[in-house]
Amino acid sequence: MWWGSLRLLLLLAAAVAAAAEPASTLNGPSRPVTVALRKDRGHAVDLPDTDPRVQRRATGWAPEQITVALSAAPTSAWVSWITGEFQMGGTVKPLNPGTVASVVRYGLAADSLVHEATGDALVYSQLYPFEGLQNYTSGIIHHVRLQGLEPATKYYYQCGDPGIPGAMSAVHAFRTMPAVGPRSYPGRIAVVGDLGLTYNTTSTVDHMVSNRPDLVLLVGDVCYANMYLTNGTGAAERTATRARSASRRPSTRRTSRAGTTGEGTWRR
Ligand SMILES: *[C@@H]1O[C@H](CO)[C@@H](O)[C@H](O)[C@H]1NC(C)=O
Ligand SMILES: *[C@@H]1O[C@H](CO)[C@@H](O)[C@H](O)[C@H]1NC(C)=O
Ligand SMILES: *[C@@H]1O[C@H](CO)[C@@H](O)[C@H](O)[C@H]1NC(C)=O
Repeated sequence: MWWGSLRLLLLLAAAVAAAAEPASTLNGPSRPVTVALRKDRGHAVDLPDTDPRVQRRATGWAPEQITVALSAAPTSAWVSWITGEFQMGGTVKPLNPGTVASVVRYGLAADSLVHEATGDALVYSQLYPFEGLQNYTSGIIHHVRLQGLEPATKYYYQCGDPGIPGAMSAVHAFRTMPAVGPRSYPGRIAVVGDLGLTYNTTSTVDHMVSNRPDLVLLVGDVCYANMYLTNGTGAAERTATRARSASRRPSTRRTSRAGTTGEGTWRR
């Protein structure tokens, strides 16, 4: 899967580099350009779970890892976040997703979040019935869909459980995509895959953000509960088992303690 992602990324980079003006589908299909794989692309090593960048910064039921994702239309968006702590070890007890509500308050001004939407919550567990492997169960994963939004509009929002003290996030913002039409495009789309939680992930994300994309397409592979530290070993173990485990990967993303900006997929 990572190979496919990389190839797509290279194709995109090549298409951009080849033409002075970015190619537009308004001019008909363009000829794809392929460049050779860079030999010096390096060896990305997983961050250990002691690294400050992957420490949990939230306390209590405060939302963390808040993300905004494009839904089916420019008038709709998903807000997702995590509450509670994941557990890893022998005896793990899954959290009850009903413990914390999934609420987003939003509006056109930071001091006027007049709309409210509610959603669902779930946890997922990766249990190994094998001697010597540690089990994993996630924090509570919340998803709320906002609908009836105006296209190309900046929205302010906060998420969490308004019924629990300290369980609402700060106010963040995102901009919806432009209305669908023959001459209506996001200005810039960044495509990225296989980010992982490595020593190189932050610089990759920073580089992407510095180019101010209107939309980021994350084609998959962030990190998973089925390989990382399953028996108390880290990156080396992951590398050793990558080939063997590739076909067994769950499609669910690991709810790790990845640092997030609290801002969404879109440009502010
Ligand atoms: C992990 O969970 C599985 C399934 O419940 C269980 O069989 C296994 O013993 C657990 N592992 C540990 C180390 O407790
Ligand atoms: C990846 O991170 C390591 C450790 O910080 C660094 O030495 C290396 O140059 C980075 N690789 C790339 C391609 O930036
Ligand atoms: C973890 O599992 C790998 C692969 O099965 C094994 O090579 C390694 O020795 C194990 N490490 C520990 C600390 O048990």
